[in-house]
Amino acid sequence: MKVGVSFISSDYDLETTINKIDESNADYIHVDMMDGIFVENSNYTVQDIKKMFKNCNKKLDVHMMVCSPNKFVKDFAKMSNVEYLTLHYEAHRRPIDVINMIRHTPLKVGIAINPETKVSHIVPLLNHIDQVLVMSVKPGKGGQEFMKEILYKIETLRDIREENGYHYIISVDGGINAETAKLVRKAGADMVISGSYVCKSEDYNKQIDSLR
Ligand code: DX5
Ligand code: ZN
Repeated sequence: MKVGVSFISSDYDLETTINKIDESNADYIHVDMMDGIFVENSNYTVQDIKKMFKNCNKKLDVHMMVCSPNKFVKDFAKMSNVEYLTLHYEAHRRPIDVINMIRHTPLKVGIAINPETKVSHIVPLLNHIDQVLVMSVKPGKGGQEFMKEILYKIETLRDIREENGYHYIISVDGGINAETAKLVRKAGADMVISGSYVCKSEDYNKQIDSLR
């Protein structure tokens, strides 16, 4: 199981948190970008993100919780440490247009779905996708409780991938700890994203290893 770590709810200051994740066993730094419109909170611009991670060694898995994700594709594509760029299905009238924009860059493309969004909505997009990010909390803040009712979506996505020979990875974001990671692993997820469980602890590697 791969592990991405989100830094937005931490017991440490931002710089310390980012350094601790960068030096940890995590596979990715999961970058939550919020615009105050798609979700209530707002945090960083692309320029902020560029500065914050310019000295990091790890690859970035960028989760855009923003309306008009198309506006940010060009700038993220210029950053050599971004591997995945993920938009929300619910954030754009024609997600396929944004997906195609990202596919014309060196970045891998992800699509995120809110807890209430059914997998059937994204089925026509799945052959173009490198990562499906299944939200297991309402997007917008860390420290919420994992919603077990999303587990069937992981199984559905795994079956669709197998039946069609697609290649996307299945990631799960929100409320991940050792117990809920076990559930999503059993359902067939390839990656978990964890925020507070890792960043509110002293030993990041111990927590990360307990999720694999
Ligand atoms: C939620 C974010 C998550 C969040 C995870 O909107 O997308 O990445 O930070 O935090 P925890 O693990 O605390 O739920
Ligand atoms: Zn996230």
